[in-house]
Amino acid sequence: MPGQYTRTAMVLHWLIAVLLIGQFAFGWLLDEIPRNTPARGFWINQHKSVGLVIGILILLRIVWRLRHAPPPPLPMPAWQRRAAHASHLAMYACMVVMPLSGYLASNFSKHGIKLFNTVRLAPWGSDDKLLYAIFNQTHKVTAVVFAVLIGIHLLAVIKHTLVNHDRLLARMWNGASARS
Ligand code: HEM
Ligand code: HEM
Repeated sequence: MPGQYTRTAMVLHWLIAVLLIGQFAFGWLLDEIPRNTPARGFWINQHKSVGLVIGILILLRIVWRLRHAPPPPLPMPAWQRRAAHASHLAMYACMVVMPLSGYLASNFSKHGIKLFNTVRLAPWGSDDKLLYAIFNQTHKVTAVVFAVLIGIHLLAVIKHTLVNHDRLLARMWNGASARS
C-alpha cells in the first residue's frame, strides 16, 4: 500500500522497540542488586547478552534501512517534518551508542562478558578504570537522553493520532486500520 511502511520495517521497529523498553527496565533494575554478589554478576551478564542480541538486530535494521527508503512524510508543517527527521536520526544514534558503549566498557574491565552465563568472551582490552568509567558513563547518560527522545516520540504519535487523526500510526502498524 502506498505510504505504508513495509512489513520488514514494521517487524524491525516493533521488535526492537519492545526489546529496548525491556532492556531499559532491566538496566535500571540492576541498581537494586547489591554490588560484589554472585546474583549481580549473573544478571549483569544476562543484561550484557540480551544487549548484544539487540545490538545485532539494530545493526541489521540500520543496514536494511540504508537500502530501503521510508514512505514519504505525511503532509505537515515543514518544522514538524524536520523535527521528526532529526528525532529519528537521534534515536538511531542512541540505538548505536547504547549497545556499543556497554560493549566497550565491558572490554575495558576484567569481567568481560559471559554470554548468557555460558560462553566467556575474554576482554580484548586492558583492565582500565578510566576507559571503563568513560564508556560506562556514556552508557548511563545516553540511556537518559534516549528515554527522553522515546517519550517525545510517543507524545508525537499520540498527537498525530488523537489531534490530527491522520494515518501516522496506521502506516507503522499493520493492523486492520492500516488496510482501511
Ligand atoms: C541494547 C541496548 C541497551 C540498553 C537500552 C541498556 C540500558 C541500560 C540501562 C538503562 C542501564 C542502567 C544505567 C544506570 O544505572 O543509570 C544499564 C546498565 C548497564 N549496562 Fe546496559 N543497556 C544496553 C546494552 C548493554 C550492553 C550490550 C552491555 C554490555 C555488553 C551493557 C552493559 C551494562 C552494564 C555493565 C550496566 C551496569 C552499569 C553500572 O551499574 O555501573 N548494556 N544498561
Ligand atoms: C524504544 C522505542 C522506540 C524506538 C527506539 C522507536 C524508533 C523509531 C524510529 C527510528 C522511527 C523512524 C523509522 C524510519 O523511518 O526509519 C520510528 C517511526 C515510528 N514509530 Fe517508533 N520507536 C519506538 C517506539 C514506538 C512506539 C511505542 C510507537 C507507538 C505508540 C511508535 C510509533 C512509531 C510510528 C507511528 C512511526 C512512523 C512515523 C512516521 O510515519 O513518520 N514507536 N520509530
